[in-house]
Amino acid sequence: MRRKLAAGNWKMFGTTASLGEIAAIAGACPTPGVDILVCLPATLISRAQAVAGCVALGGQDCHAHGEGAHTGDISAPMLIDAGASHVILGHSERRSDYRESDETVAAKALSARAAGLTAVICVGETLEQRQSGDALAVVGGQLAGSIPDGASGANTVVAYEPVWAIGTGLTPSVEEIGEMHGFIRRALRERFGTEGDAIRVLYGGSVKPANAADIFAVPDVDGALVGGASLKAADFLPIVRALEGAAGQ
Ligand code: PGA
Repeated sequence: MRRKLAAGNWKMFGTTASLGEIAAIAGACPTPGVDILVCLPATLISRAQAVAGCVALGGQDCHAHGEGAHTGDISAPMLIDAGASHVILGHSERRSDYRESDETVAAKALSARAAGLTAVICVGETLEQRQSGDALAVVGGQLAGSIPDGASGANTVVAYEPVWAIGTGLTPSVEEIGEMHGFIRRALRERFGTEGDAIRVLYGGSVKPANAADIFAVPDVDGALVGGASLKAADFLPIVRALEGAAGQ
């Protein structure tokens, strides 16, 4: 039985003034049946620890090497040192802003794993790819290329985030989400066996309090990766509650 996971992605938002939102999110603790994760700007992780309660903290990227002459980069051991337990890898914004390939994402995931971080590996098709009927093939290729061998429920989470749904207010239909999550579940099971069955698969892209319950009712959706609506506890907590409702079904 996979535990549900409500994950926030703060992207490049948040300064000291935002730590109160973490404390407010932690006000929901304990949340039996649901894990909460917030992936913060790296500058906030160690300070957020003091107020995070049961909320796990994550980074949003790491380098493929543990240390080295890579100005401006951050490594997996550094995220662990700051108090992170997870790291988002291969988010579509990094794939487009920094041209990260599946190979790059897989190398980063291995480094995260070696340091003891759980990698939240993102996949998802563009609108053009969906409209041309290639969504499953694109996501299948990203899964094969971005997830290193040896993935397990402990070291890997997959986030299905259609690029066209991120920050747009658009979401796929529940049928489309169900089709994709079923496809991802089968692919993980085929490749990783029982460990593949333990890997949680999140939906991401314009998840809001208003649509969360419908999305969480879709089979094979183990939670959400939430961007904009994770920045304020007042928006994120109703999503956590909706997931608790789905966990109780
Ligand atoms: P959004 O972002 O919820 O603001 O659409 C999701 C994400 O990019 O992880």
